[in-house]
Amino acid sequence: MAIADRSAVGDRVGAGPSAASAMPARLARARSIDDVRALAQRRLPRAVFDFFDGGAETESTMQENRAVFERLRLLPRTLVDVSRIDMTTTVLDTPVSMPVVIAPTGAAGFGWPGGDVAIARAAAAAGIPYALSTTATASIERVAREAPGHLWFQAYILRERANTMKLIERARVAGYDALVITVDLPVGGKRERDFRNDFSIPFRFTPRNLLDFASRPGWALSALRHGIPVMENLVGLVPAAAGAVAVASSVGRNYDPAFDWDGLKAIRDAWPRKLVVKGVVHPEDATKAAALGCDAIVVSNHGGRQLDGGIATAEALPAVVAAVGTTMEVMVDGGIRRGASIVKALALGARAVMIGRPTLYGVAAAGEPGARRALDILLDEFKRTMQLCGVRDVGSIGPDLLVRSQTGPGGLSP
Ligand SMILES: Cc1cc2nc3c(=O)[nH]c(=O)nc-3n(C[C@H](O)[C@H](O)[C@H](O)COP(=O)(O)O)c2cc1C
Repeated sequence: MAIADRSAVGDRVGAGPSAASAMPARLARARSIDDVRALAQRRLPRAVFDFFDGGAETESTMQENRAVFERLRLLPRTLVDVSRIDMTTTVLDTPVSMPVVIAPTGAAGFGWPGGDVAIARAAAAAGIPYALSTTATASIERVAREAPGHLWFQAYILRERANTMKLIERARVAGYDALVITVDLPVGGKRERDFRNDFSIPFRFTPRNLLDFASRPGWALSALRHGIPVMENLVGLVPAAAGAVAVASSVGRNYDPAFDWDGLKAIRDAWPRKLVVKGVVHPEDATKAAALGCDAIVVSNHGGRQLDGGIATAEALPAVVAAVGTTMEVMVDGGIRRGASIVKALALGARAVMIGRPTLYGVAAAGEPGARRALDILLDEFKRTMQLCGVRDVGSIGPDLLVRSQTGPGGLSP
């Protein structure tokens, strides 16, 4: 797929509403991912917003993910001609318009009808890869048909291993470029907002969540018109999928807690294309994945939705990068809400970042234009940060761009 010319995007984000007349005025006024998040919060029932927004238990890991990135200090260079900036790079040998990949996020259809397809289309338009979740509300085949682009498929390991292999085979037949195996969910994390909001599995209407839904008539009417979204990939494979409600804290119920390195090796042997392991933070796990022939890892803690109290991803990244060297590509996710954080992630050695919530907020705020807006904002900030740092291309972003005490294989200093 050709990479879209994004050179004018920064100007568009910076300009007034008239320059963005194709999108709703509210969306055009959103200048940051936090603004987009606020729009999503205004449109969604609390239970749905909290499902997207929340993390496990105290949410400390979720908060640290973002805070550590934002605490890192850049050490910019000046008097460099930054009139032309090249944000392109490659990820898994594929040319991309910027070093960003859409992370797999299940249940996007609860935010907007057809939400998964909308985000995938926004990714394709931006020239970046989109990873479809096992628990997406659009099937592997539908996304390939309706949102062709650089598609990756993320597999959870179902208790019935043969069913996982069926999903993987479907992704191969549908032409997905890469398979992502998520390894940080042997059991579901304890997401207390979901419990408090009666957002449970199996889904039941209760007086509390009925009131909640009624308080957002726009969302409720659209849900009535389009129906409760279905986890299309899992229909026929797990009991709750037909009801489309296996999305909250007990999501781990259908997954196999016995999955281990031997299981990963079997998948490596079966999958002929690029293989990505997502959810690694320990350097030894990273080197094991490299030894097994995996092509990339994502340093990730599931956006703080699984193990609360675990290390922030920006903190884990330097040691992982040092351990694997050039044997595989290293991506990172968790708490990327600013273009500057993308620059920092690359300076710490990441090939690219993944983003989860930013495009979920966007799609929940306004469908596909909302997801596009979130990407435009990040792209604009990324470009601007590169210019302000005096770097002209992605390959020039290195550790010297960060204050020295913050880098190094032992992790970041406090
Ligand atoms: C609502 C939601 C659903 C998610 N579903 C999945 C999933 O199905 N598979 C997966 O590997 N990760 C899933 N994740 C984790 C993301 O892939 C990613 O690791 C995380 O969102 C990154 O953090 P960020 O949201 O701060 O960018 C989900 C995250 C959210 C917020």
